[in-house]
Amino acid sequence: MISEWFVKDLILSRPDAKVHHIVQAIGSSSAAKGKAFAEKHCPESSPAIYDSYQGVYDDPNVDLVYIGTPHSFHKQNCLDAIAAGKPILCEKAFTLNARDAREVFAAAKKKNVYVAEAMWLRHRPLVKDLKKLLHEDKVIGDVLRSFSDFGIEKDIANLPETSRYKDPALGAGSLLDLGVYALTWATIALDANNPNGAEKPTVLASQSHYGNVEVATSIILKYPSTGRQAVVTSTTNVVGNPDLLTRIEGTKGSIEITGLVPSFPSGFRVYPKFVGSAVAGTLTRAEGKLHDYPVLGKGYHFEADNTALDVLAGRLESSIMPWSETIRMMDLTDEIRRQGGTVYAADSA
Ligand SMILES: NC(=O)c1ccc[n+]([C@@H]2O[C@H](COP(=O)([O-])OP(=O)(O)OC[C@H]3O[C@@H](n4cnc5c(N)ncnc54)[C@H](OP(=O)(O)O)[C@@H]3O)[C@@H](O)[C@H]2O)c1
Repeated sequence: MISEWFVKDLILSRPDAKVHHIVQAIGSSSAAKGKAFAEKHCPESSPAIYDSYQGVYDDPNVDLVYIGTPHSFHKQNCLDAIAAGKPILCEKAFTLNARDAREVFAAAKKKNVYVAEAMWLRHRPLVKDLKKLLHEDKVIGDVLRSFSDFGIEKDIANLPETSRYKDPALGAGSLLDLGVYALTWATIALDANNPNGAEKPTVLASQSHYGNVEVATSIILKYPSTGRQAVVTSTTNVVGNPDLLTRIEGTKGSIEITGLVPSFPSGFRVYPKFVGSAVAGTLTRAEGKLHDYPVLGKGYHFEADNTALDVLAGRLESSIMPWSETIRMMDLTDEIRRQGGTVYAADSA
C-alpha cells in the first residue's frame, strides 16, 4: 500500500519540484510482483526489478533506498542497506523498539550512511507554518494542552492471520501504526515551549487488546518543565473524526486541525477564546481563521524532496526527523507499551 502511494507521488509532474526523482529499481519478494508493481505504478521509469531487496542495495545506480515493508522488517532491511552503503528513507514505525532503532543508527554512524525515518507528516508545509504560529507568533497565547487521535476501522477478527494489522510478528497494533502520528501532533503542539525542544514527557498509558493484538491506546503526556499536557489516542476499532484530528488550546484561543486522517491534514482553523458564560447559556466563539493547504497527490514528495536534498548535501541525518527524535518517540512508545502490556518478540530478542 504505502510503496504504491509513495511512488505515485514521487513521479507526479511538479513544475516547481526541488528534486527530480527517478524510480531506478524495485526490490520485491518476487520478480513477478515487482514487475507488476512497476507496470502499474511507474511504467515510464522502466526500473530494474530484483527478486530480493539486496538486489536494490547492491545496484550501483541506486542513490537512495526507500523501505516500505512492515515495521518488523525495518531493522534488518536498514542494516542490510547500511552494510551496502546505501542511504535510507525508512517507513514508520522506524523499528519495533528503541533498542533496535539505536542499533540501526549506530550502524549508520559507523558506516557513514544517511538514515531517516519517513515521518512524512513533519515535512508538510502546514506543520512548519503551524509551529511558527504557535510558538513564535503565539497566536493562541501560551499553549496549555492538546488532544489528538488517530482511528481507523479494521475488522481484526476477520482479517487473515497473515495481515500486518493482526500478526504481532509483523508489528500489529494501533500504537506503532497510527498512534505515532497522534503522538507527533502532541509534540508539534507542546514541544517548542521547552528550551531545547526535546524534553521527554512523562507517560500514563492504557491499552486494550483483541487476543494478542493491541486495538486501542490512550495516553496522557505531561511535560515536567511546564506542566503542559496532551491526551493522545489511537485505535483500529473505530474511525476518528476528520473534522477534528487535533485540538490545541492556549491562553488566548485554540487551533483545530482538519483533514482526511492525522497523517494527511488539509488545514487548520485558529479560534479566539470562547466568550460569554456557560451558566447564562451565552458561550460563543468567533468563526476562526482558516488556513488551507491543498497538496498535489498525497504529499509524500515533501519528505522525498527533503531526503534527496539531505543526501545530495552529504548529511547523515534529517534536520526535520533527526535520529534523536526517532529515539525520543520510540522511547515513548516503549514506555506506553510497557504500561499497556503490549510485547513484541523483538523486545526480548
Ligand atoms: N507513511 C504512511 O502514510 C504509511 C501508510 C501506510 C503504511 N505505512 C508504513 O509502511 C509499512 C508497510 O505498510 P503497508 O500498509 O504498505 O504494508 P503492506 O501493504 O502489507 O505491504 C508491505 C510489503 O512488504 C513486503 N513484505 C516483506 N515481507 C513481508 C511479510 N512477511 N508480510 C507482508 N509483507 C511483507 C511485501 O512486498 P514484497 O512481497 O513485494 O516484497 C508487502 O507488499 C509499515 O511499516 C507501515 O507502518 C506508512
